[in-house]
Amino acid sequence: MRIDVISIFPDYLAPVRLSLLGKAHDAGLLDVAVHDLRDFTHDRHRTVDDTPYGGGPGMVMKPEPWAAALASVTVAAESVSSESRADTRLIVPTPSGRPFSQAVAADLATADHLVFACGRYEGIDRRVIDHAAASMTVEEISIGDYVLAGGEVAALVIIEAVARLLPGVVGNESSVVDDSFAAGPMEHLVEGPIYTKPADWNGAIVPPVLVSGDHGAIARWRRDQSLERTTRMRPDLIRGRLTHDFDAADHRVLEALGWMDEAGRWQLAPPAVSD
Ligand code: 6GU
Repeated sequence: MRIDVISIFPDYLAPVRLSLLGKAHDAGLLDVAVHDLRDFTHDRHRTVDDTPYGGGPGMVMKPEPWAAALASVTVAAESVSSESRADTRLIVPTPSGRPFSQAVAADLATADHLVFACGRYEGIDRRVIDHAAASMTVEEISIGDYVLAGGEVAALVIIEAVARLLPGVVGNESSVVDDSFAAGPMEHLVEGPIYTKPADWNGAIVPPVLVSGDHGAIARWRRDQSLERTTRMRPDLIRGRLTHDFDAADHRVLEALGWMDEAGRWQLAPPAVSD
C-alpha cells in the first residue's frame, strides 16, 4: 500500500518511521511519503490560509496549494502503479466526518493508495474536497467527539490502525482476529484481561483456568470476561443487540450481568457492575 500525507507540519508524521509502521515500511509492505503543503505555494510568504468568506473567527486553508499538492501525489502514484486504475482514497480528517471504527480501518486496508489531507485552522476550502471527489473516493473521517488542533494526529491514528491489518505486517495473524471490534465474534465486544508469567506475582495469582490446559474452558472463560468487561466499560456496544449474535452460554452470562430482569425481559441498561 502507498500512503501520501499532506500537511503544513510534516515533522508531526515522523512516527511513521517507528515501530510497527517502520517495520511495515522496511518489509516493503507500506510506502509512506509525507509532503509539506507549503512546497505547493508560489508567493514569498508561502501562504496557505486566508480569512473566511461570510466572516467569523479563524482562517481557512486556500484551495490553490491543496489542488497542486493533491495533483502531485495522485499523478506520482499513477506513474508507479501497475494496475490500470488504482483504488485511491482521499481521507480528510475532520471532527465533522463519519466516525472512524475497526470496520472503516478494514475497508481502507483494501485500498491501493491512501492520501491524507491534514487541515489546520478552521479547515480546508470546501471546493478542494468537492473537486477531488470527481476523480477519487473522498472519506471525511472523525476519530472521536473532541477537537484536535489539526488532522495530523488523527491521520497517524488511522494509518496505524490500517497498517496493522495489511497482510504480513502483524506477525501472528490470529492476534488481529481476536482484537476488540474485529469483524466476527469480537465485533461488538472488547477484550477481557490478559496475563503472563510469573503465575504467582507477589501473591497475586493468575486465574487457574488459564493454566488448566482445558482449551474449551479457557475460550469460554475469555468470552465471559469479555461480556463482563463490555457491560462495565461499553454497555452501548451490547444495548440494542441483546436478541442477536449471542449463543445460549452468552445469554446465561448476560442474564447474570443484569441485562435481563426476573421475568426474562431484556433490559436497556444493566444495573451498575462494580469493579
Ligand atoms: Cl479527524 N481532526 C481534527 N482536527 N479533530 C478531530 C478529529 C479529526 N477527530 C476528532 N477530532
